[in-house]
Amino acid sequence: MTTLPKPRQPELKTALPGPNTAAIMERDRQHLSTSYMRPYPFVPERGEGVWLTDVDGNTMLDFFAGIAVSTTGHAHPHVVKGVQEQVAKFTHVCLTDYPQEITTSLAERLVKHVEKPGEKWRVFFSNSGAEAVEAAVKLARNHTGRSHIISTMGSFHGRTYGAITLTGSKTKYKRGFGPLLPAVSHVPYPNPFRPPLGSTPETCGQAVLEHIESLFVGILPADEVAAIIVEPMQGEGGYIVPPADFLPGLRALCDKHGIMLIFDEVQAGMGRTGKMFSFQHFDVQPDIITSAKGIASGMPLGALLAKDSVMTWPVGSHGSTYGGNPVAAAASHATLDLLEGVVKHPGCGDNLMQNAHEVGEYIMAELKGMQAEFPFLGDVRGRGLFIGLEFVTPDGRPDGALRDRASMAMFEKGLLNLDCGEAVIRISPPLILTKEEAKTGLEIMRETLRELK
Ligand SMILES: Cc1ncc(COP(=O)(O)O)c(C=O)c1O
Repeated sequence: MTTLPKPRQPELKTALPGPNTAAIMERDRQHLSTSYMRPYPFVPERGEGVWLTDVDGNTMLDFFAGIAVSTTGHAHPHVVKGVQEQVAKFTHVCLTDYPQEITTSLAERLVKHVEKPGEKWRVFFSNSGAEAVEAAVKLARNHTGRSHIISTMGSFHGRTYGAITLTGSKTKYKRGFGPLLPAVSHVPYPNPFRPPLGSTPETCGQAVLEHIESLFVGILPADEVAAIIVEPMQGEGGYIVPPADFLPGLRALCDKHGIMLIFDEVQAGMGRTGKMFSFQHFDVQPDIITSAKGIASGMPLGALLAKDSVMTWPVGSHGSTYGGNPVAAAASHATLDLLEGVVKHPGCGDNLMQNAHEVGEYIMAELKGMQAEFPFLGDVRGRGLFIGLEFVTPDGRPDGALRDRASMAMFEKGLLNLDCGEAVIRISPPLILTKEEAKTGLEIMRETLRELK
């Protein structure tokens, strides 16, 4: 792996959708679940790095990485090699019953990224983010002997029953599915661009903390709260970075009341923000961490990390047939090799976290520069390659309709992107994105925004 990626541009050979894409989409519409969304007419056939080619030969630049999953890009040779070698050895011997070196060493490797001096952490492996969240709730309840969980508005934690109950982003995830998990409350997320509870960008973190304390006075006994679960940087809700004092304040609040602090790092974690976990941008340590998505470059794997003192659930009380599957674990090792810089990716500096930081700073600076020309770009925010672009009306309200037009126009020019929040485009490309490739994407964005003016 010594060659630098060749400069490329999106290449559209047909009008979108092309004939093969249209035919597969129609079969998909006939036979797959009615719940699947199909926001863009795109059917991938193969991928290479940050490029995806559809079944009609149209090549697109990937600025969303399968919702922040494909950390190392598509078909990374190091990940492919790791997976192929493991498949040839064995693909399954249930981790719930038998230890496997590949998962033991993966756990040892993951906890090194969170353990502070004197701490010991443990790992439970799942297949997905939602399963890691379910495990976190079960562990917090089992450990504390308390039942109530506090989550945040705008959050997303997954589609299983516990996880949709905790989710606070869209009512469509819940409508018609109740009754949900009992004993769950939601509090506002401190969004500095739209400060809740009559606060300001500077005071919104404190305002949310005071709000939680006020619940403990009149509504909810603090000694019945098992955990507070929060995304240290909110993903689905709009790629929001909270003020610096919020998470440390939440830690102090949890310590005061004996509550477990769970950080859901499923979307923002695994190097995306320029650090292994997004909470590491702040001076804070949780009790429990959930991870998935970018952890294994697209192979299904999730992880629950917890302090040894917290992981007290008894033998046999929780498990999974496939969780910690050795093939997914091999993909995760290869992903960590690239994130940590044990294996270098050409053109990406010492490691992919450093690259995410540097290329992310470049994209943020360019987008902030565009705000003067395009007043409807109300906010540009994020860390590393976790960037949100919020569209606003002239009087500053979220402009979801304009965001939708922008997103589709970018897609039609060969840039794969995805919305989030009410009026936000998320930029969450593979972490191997070079500055050159970022520039190509930014040019498409600028051209689109000019057309929208
Ligand atoms: C923060 C967060 N938690 C949990 C999940 C659920 O993960 P999965 O879809 O793998 O179950 C997601 C998925 O988008 C997420 O963004």
